[in-house]
Parts: sequence; C-alpha cells; structure tokens
Amino acid sequence: MAYDFDKIARDYDRMNHLMTLGLDKCWRKRAVKELPAGGSRRSVLDVACGTGDMCLLLAKQGAAVTGVDLSEEMLAIARKKVASAKFQFSTFNFQISDAERLPFPDASFDAVTCAFGVRNFVHLERGLAEMIRVLKPGGTMAILEMATPDSRLLRPLYDLYAGKIIPWLGQHLAGSREAYTYLPASISRFPKGDAFLRILQNAGAQVRNCRQRKLTFGVCRLYLASR
Ligand SMILES: C[S@@+](CC[C@H](N)C(=O)[O-])C[C@H]1O[C@@H](n2cnc3c(N)ncnc32)[C@H](O)[C@@H]1O
Repeated sequence: MAYDFDKIARDYDRMNHLMTLGLDKCWRKRAVKELPAGGSRRSVLDVACGTGDMCLLLAKQGAAVTGVDLSEEMLAIARKKVASAKFQFSTFNFQISDAERLPFPDASFDAVTCAFGVRNFVHLERGLAEMIRVLKPGGTMAILEMATPDSRLLRPLYDLYAGKIIPWLGQHLAGSREAYTYLPASISRFPKGDAFLRILQNAGAQVRNCRQRKLTFGVCRLYLASR
C-alpha cells in the first residue's frame, strides 16, 4: 500500500528543506535545467508533484504544467502556493491521480518529471511505464530520487543522520517519528544508480538514452531518459 502523505502534508515542506539543508531546492533546479528548453508551448507532467515545488519551477520557465499526486492534502498546498505566487492559474492543472494509471492519452507531454516520488510507488515498473507512455517521442524524462552515498567514508555519517537524527527531528518537529523512520528505510531499500537505470530501461520498449547524474556525493540521483 502507498504511504499516506496526507498525514504529513502540513509539515512536508518545512521538514524537507530542513532535512536536506535546503539542497532539495537545488536538486529540483538541476533537474529542470537538464530538460531541453521548449518555449512557452511546452507541456510538462510532474508526477507525484506533492506540494508543487517542481511545478512552480517548471512554470517559471514558461511550461504548461500538469501535476498529479495521490494525496489531496499535498495537492491543496500546491494549489495555494500557485495562487499566492500569482501565476496565471491556467498554466497549471493539478489533479488527484495514481502514477500507475495516468489518465492521459499516449504521447501527451513534451517532458515528464518526478521528484522524490518513484520510491513511493507500489509497483515501480508500472509507474515508470506509465511515465514513458505519456511522453511524446523525442521527449525527456527527469527523475530525482534520494540514495545512500557510495563512499565508505561518508556512509557512517549518513547512517547516523538518516537512522537517528532524521527520526528524532521528525518526532520533535513534525510529531511523527514513524513517518521519518519510513523515509530513510525506504531510501536504503530502493534501487539506486545502475540498478535503477536497468529497471527504467526495461519499463518501456521506447525508452532510450537512460543515464544518471550523482548530486551531492550521490545522496541524490538525477535519472534522465528520452523517448
Ligand atoms: C516525497 S513526496 C515528493 C513530493 C514532491 N514531488 C517534491 O518534490 O517534494 C512523494 C509524493 O509522492 C506521492 N505519491 C506516492 N505514490 C504515488 C502514486 N502512485 N501516484 C501519485 N503520487 C504518488 C505522495 O502522495 C507524495 O506527495
């Protein structure tokens, strides 16, 4: 069953920025930078859009953005942010939808993004296959995901931070030790690097040029693919 983000929506942004020391913003910017510029008519789907930070960045570049997520509470925050950012609301379309059953025809979007969402899919391959299906031929897909660092020197520090400090912060600042124990546990279980790229490659016959960029010592990975 998918983790219920409704429970932590209120604290999500604050905790996310705190736990990543603000780096989540840089990682999203980097992902957007890797997408080919396509002018104002470019349509982008942001899957598992959550509170909409990626959608806002994409819209600043002039894209028409569709954001989908399973959590009504996360989407409510995304809608509020868009309203207060004084964008023309028509640039955005937020809707409740499961990444594993996207309600769009084949080849609908020039680009598809997903920031820190794929780790939460119940069936990873199905979600990736859907993202590829709705991408136009020639389009680009950018996926951000957290990972454990490769470096043996960094690993003990990371384990201390992820295993002890994050759950402690979750308990004391967001009132949920459980949610912030799930986070590092789900990161360490999730395939990273080449293992993830193999799954992505196998998710659709049309996918090509799968590649990754290691960000911040590899604790965040940017996976890119084309159709
Ligand atoms: C860690 S948050 C990431 C939110 C946002 N993309 C960001 O950059 O901060 C993960 C999001 O994935 C959503 N999610 C999980 N499984 C999903 C699915 N199958 N379909 C759509 N959204 C999903 C959750 O509701 C949650 O909002």
